[in-house]
Amino acid sequence: MRDVAVIGVGLTKFGELWDKSFRELISEAGSKAIFDSGIGGLEIDAMYVGSMSSGRFIGQEHIGALVADASGFSHLNIPSTRVEGACASGGLAVREGYLSIASGLNDVVVVGGIEKMNDVSGTAATETLAMAADQEWEAFFGATFPSIYAMIATRHMHEYGTTREQLAQVAVKNHSNGALNPFAQYQREIKMEFVLNAPPVAYPLGLFDCSPVTDGAAAVVLCSLDKAKNFTDKPVKIIASGQASDSLALHGRRDICTLDSTVQAAKKAFKQANVTQKDIDLAEVHDCFTIAEICAIEDLGFMKKGEGGKAIDENITNLNGSLPVNTSGGLKSKGHPVGATGVAQIVEIVTQLRGEADKRQVKDAKIGLAHNVGGSGATCIVHILEGI
Ligand code: COA
Repeated sequence: MRDVAVIGVGLTKFGELWDKSFRELISEAGSKAIFDSGIGGLEIDAMYVGSMSSGRFIGQEHIGALVADASGFSHLNIPSTRVEGACASGGLAVREGYLSIASGLNDVVVVGGIEKMNDVSGTAATETLAMAADQEWEAFFGATFPSIYAMIATRHMHEYGTTREQLAQVAVKNHSNGALNPFAQYQREIKMEFVLNAPPVAYPLGLFDCSPVTDGAAAVVLCSLDKAKNFTDKPVKIIASGQASDSLALHGRRDICTLDSTVQAAKKAFKQANVTQKDIDLAEVHDCFTIAEICAIEDLGFMKKGEGGKAIDENITNLNGSLPVNTSGGLKSKGHPVGATGVAQIVEIVTQLRGEADKRQVKDAKIGLAHNVGGSGATCIVHILEGI
């Protein structure tokens, strides 16, 4: 396998972007990434794009070709492939691009991720997202992702004594980070009382325990490490890519508080990277709901099962803690355009490892981890990156 580096990153503002089309968003992110990478465009061997449900959200399928066309590359006939894995579509697309270079097939690949979710009503968005749950066993009976994660939260509270305040503190922390990120949907700090007194969504989760419905796009340019130096003096090496899956429905799991897909993807990634949890300087984890961040830091092995809430109390995951988590604001505050999220996580890690994260910069960041989940944990991808 060849070494692979990220040589360029690009992001649109996340939010309710009524004035921008799907085409404009992906072209903006892609052109920023290409400009940042130092390539001209003719070097691109392939494109991959993560998008969960463009057919339902904007009535458009055939996204691979559309993205190549919208980026102005249709005349080059570059192979362009859409990748779908629910909210993990972006992470999966990055992994496909990584594998195609590591295998020796391609040298330069552009990976995009996009979702435009606000063109449909809130109800339609919830129904569309619920299609990533098990239709027969969950969605048919009215289960939505907020309610599925609410069940995980309730069980976590029962098993481990995790408190409502600890959940709320995840939102407070991520909004505090998001306030420092000019690309975030919500660039504002929130107080604990605000989270605790917010309108209920599914007990114990309230409005501020949920990631929002978001429009946005992200892109990265990947290149074989040996050729990366032709384009940039700041490549960031992908030192591991781990993927795993699990039962689609929650009831099929050995323990609903543990995402075994995360446990297994992380095991593979740490083994490939030949590093341990102690070597990680920062992590972007999939906090689609506040409880998801607590489960993630446990399942990634940063602490024992059940101790995630305690870690939040001890401020370990704060920007200036020993393991800063979701420095971008996470899905909670930066926003969660589902197909773009996994790519945007890589953008944040690369920005941090290059030392370009401005007010939210983690001091001396060398190694970062990105964790992207599909549905309630049926798909998981973990990437580990190192600044060189
Ligand atoms: N966090 C913070 N603020 C939010 C928010 C969120 N998650 N969702 C909405 N808001 C804000 C809006 O900006 C708006 O503020 P304004 O009145 O100042 O403009 C206000 O709350 C009401 O917004 P609205 O769009 O009417 O909210 P809603 O009740 O329709 O939707 C949720 C709220 C939580 C149901 C929706 O955000 C949601 O479904 N989130 C989960 C998405 C999801 O499941 N993703 C996949 C995960 S696996």
